[in-house]
Amino acid sequence: MLSKKKLIVLTGAGVSAESGISTFRDNDGLWEQYPVEEVASIEGFQRNPQLVLNFYNERRRRYKGCQPNNAHYTLAKLEEYFDVRIITQNVDDLHEQAGSSKVIHLHGELMKNCSVNDTSTTYPVDPNNSDIHIGDLAPDGFQLRPFIVWFGEAVPMIEPAIEWVQTADFFAVIGSSLLVYPAAGLLHYVPSDSPIYVIDPKEVTANTNREIHFIREKASTGVNTLAHLLGVSF
Ligand code: OAD
Repeated sequence: MLSKKKLIVLTGAGVSAESGISTFRDNDGLWEQYPVEEVASIEGFQRNPQLVLNFYNERRRRYKGCQPNNAHYTLAKLEEYFDVRIITQNVDDLHEQAGSSKVIHLHGELMKNCSVNDTSTTYPVDPNNSDIHIGDLAPDGFQLRPFIVWFGEAVPMIEPAIEWVQTADFFAVIGSSLLVYPAAGLLHYVPSDSPIYVIDPKEVTANTNREIHFIREKASTGVNTLAHLLGVSF
């Protein structure tokens, strides 16, 4: 049997926008309401841990009840036709909920916690008791913190992500402004003869000389256009 071609997908906040989760840099995006350097950096956490814990406690509460949308489900369905691998910058687990089986989270996961002393061991969050308070301790005896890769921290999952991208037959970006590195730099590892697609209703500037096939649609319909361009009709 022929092995399936590899479709590697980099997703950003836009893929979850239609599930009711705010993006970061759109009008009314999260970074307009909260200074990113205060709530999403390691220095911000060291300066004011309460503020940062409050921010992520609020994110978890708002996330409760959010459902995958057609974009997540279609990517999962495409596994029948392709070896689909998803590299997401999102901290939600909507790709997994929709049934995608190969997902790398570059920036951590909202429904996991870790300790300030060890960010590589994670603990699942109880959805009914999801707040972290100052003084809540991880099993290693150190303060519990969200399992989020903050600005100023290493991105350990970038290495396996690069390995996936280097094997891409097709590469797609869905709902990312491509402004945050190292994620945006993954474009540079796409093999030279593999087409690159970008699904986003707004113009996105990709930092590459490569030809990009832009699909100027929302994620929920853009994935169907992508599937069609790849020769799949559901
Ligand atoms: P951004 O908020 O920077 O970009 C979201 C993109 O989604 C924009 O290009 C929008 O036009 C697009 N978009 C909005 N609605 C959409 C829809 N319905 N369908 C498709 N696209 C849509 O989010 P990211 O690029 O994901 O990191 O941001 C990257 C990282 O920056 C995040 O992971 C986060 C943030 O700071 C951390 O917090 C560590």
